Amino acid sequence: MFAVSSVSWQQCQQELYYVRRLVFIEEQAVPAEIEIDGWDELSIHVLARDLGGEPIGCGRLLPDGHIGRMAVLPAWRGQGVGRALLDCLLDLAQKAGIETVHLSAQVHAIPFYLKAGFVPYGDIYDEAGIPHRAMHKIHSK
Ligand code: COA
Repeated sequence: MFAVSSVSWQQCQQELYYVRRLVFIEEQAVPAEIEIDGWDELSIHVLARDLGGEPIGCGRLLPDGHIGRMAVLPAWRGQGVGRALLDCLLDLAQKAGIETVHLSAQVHAIPFYLKAGFVPYGDIYDEAGIPHRAMHKIHSK
């Protein structure tokens, strides 16, 4: 059991960074200077917490309609947390009037995004030493 909510970087920076540090920096060996960039203060963030209020997953939506930093702690994967975070971000994008949502998917996560209606385009490229592919989803009117 978990709950997902929209949060601000100012209020929840520590919880968001807790999840991102464990998943991206420690698990995936992404360099810390790449993981933290200038976009966090400008983005809308979503945070998943367990019933005890502990952070278990996160994601963000940039003002230009890019979703990123999708991360769920290993013990919570495969239980719908990622999908709930993604659905919340898509809902927030729609409310913000963003018609097409973009993301840069790690290749292993493409099936996860396909299930949510994203479509891949272009070639596979390297980002932080991890193969990625661009995907997008156009809101149906
Ligand atoms: N391959 C195939 N299917 C996958 C998948 C994968 N790697 N990850 C999730 N799915 C499927 C699930 O089986 C589920 O399908 P269903 O609706 O038919 O049951 C659906 O996608 C939703 O999965 P969910 O349980 O909500 O995903 P999750 O909570 O495990 O979160 C990630 C998915 C990718 C966010 C999570 O695995 C993660 O944090 N990975 C490490 C960080 C990362 O790579 N982030 C992505 C950066 S682009």
